[in-house]
Amino acid sequence: MFTPLASAETLTYEQINPPVEKFISELPVKKNYKVRKRPILIQGAMTAEVGRLMNALKNPVAYRYMNYVFVAGTYRDYPVVVSRTEIGIANAAVATAFAIEHFKPIAVINQGTAGGYTPELHLNDIVIADKSINYTAYREDYSPAGEFDFTKQTLRGTYVFDDSKPTEFTRFPSLATNAKLLQIAKDTALMNGNWNVTVGTIGSADAWIDAVDHINFLHDNYGMLCEEMETNSVAQVCYTAKVPFIGIRVISDNTITGEKFDLGTALNCQDFALLVTENLIHAINRGRF
Ligand code: 5AD
Repeated sequence: MFTPLASAETLTYEQINPPVEKFISELPVKKNYKVRKRPILIQGAMTAEVGRLMNALKNPVAYRYMNYVFVAGTYRDYPVVVSRTEIGIANAAVATAFAIEHFKPIAVINQGTAGGYTPELHLNDIVIADKSINYTAYREDYSPAGEFDFTKQTLRGTYVFDDSKPTEFTRFPSLATNAKLLQIAKDTALMNGNWNVTVGTIGSADAWIDAVDHINFLHDNYGMLCEEMETNSVAQVCYTAKVPFIGIRVISDNTITGEKFDLGTALNCQDFALLVTENLIHAINRGRF
C-alpha cells in the first residue's frame, strides 16, 4: 500500500525532505504504468511541496530514474504524474526531461514555494507566472578595478529551441507561459475567491537573495514578483520539447515584509495546483485543450 506522507506542518526538516532512499522505500515501486491518455505532470522540488499531490493520486505507482522520484496515478479519473524534481535549475531540468521522455505529458505544472519581492505579497499568497526569467542570465558591463556596480548589467536570458527559429537554440530574456494554461489558472483564481492570487514574472536561479537593494533592483528592472530555483529551467525544457508549461508559486518568505521561510505554505500551493489541474482536466475532456 501507498504510505501517506504526513503534512508539512507537523514535521521536522529532515522528515519534510527525507533522503531519497527513505522516500522511495515508502513508495510502491513498479514499472507497469500504462495509460492511453497523455498525463498531466505536476512538479515540486521537495517532499513538502509534492506530498499532498502524491496523496491525492488514486492507484499510485512510483518510479525512480537516477535519483529522481515520480509517482504516477489518476486524479479525477485522469492520469497525473507527480514529480519530486529536487532543488535547483539543473535538477528541475533533468527531472523534466526524464518525465517528458517517459510519460509524454500533455502539460507541465511546476509549483512550490518562493520568496516574495513586494510589500503586498504575504505568506500563502499565490503567484501565477505569465512569464519566467533566469535572473542570473545577464551580461555585465565592463568596469575597471574599484568601480564594480552590480546594477550595470543586461538580462540576456536562456537558450531554447522553439518555433521562432526552428534551426537552432535561441536566447530568450524571458519565457512566456502557455496562453491556455495561463487562462485556466486565472479562471481558477476567479472561481475560488478565497485565494490571494497575483499574475506576473517569476525569477529563478541557483541562489537565495536576502539583500533589500538586490531584491529591489530585480523587481524594478526585471519585474520579478518572487524568486525561487526551478521555474525558468523547466520552462526552457518545455519550450524545447514543445510541451505547454505553467509555473505557480506560493509565497513562503519575504525579506521586504520580514516574513521568514515557512515550508507549511507549500500545502496551500498544492491545493491551488490541484484546482488548476481539475480545471485543466475539464478542458481536456471537453476537447478545449
Ligand atoms: N529564494 C530561493 N528559493 C526559494 N524557495 C522558497 N523561497 C525561496 C527564496 N527566497 C524555494 C526554491 C527551492 C527551495 C529552496 O525553496 O524554489 O526549491
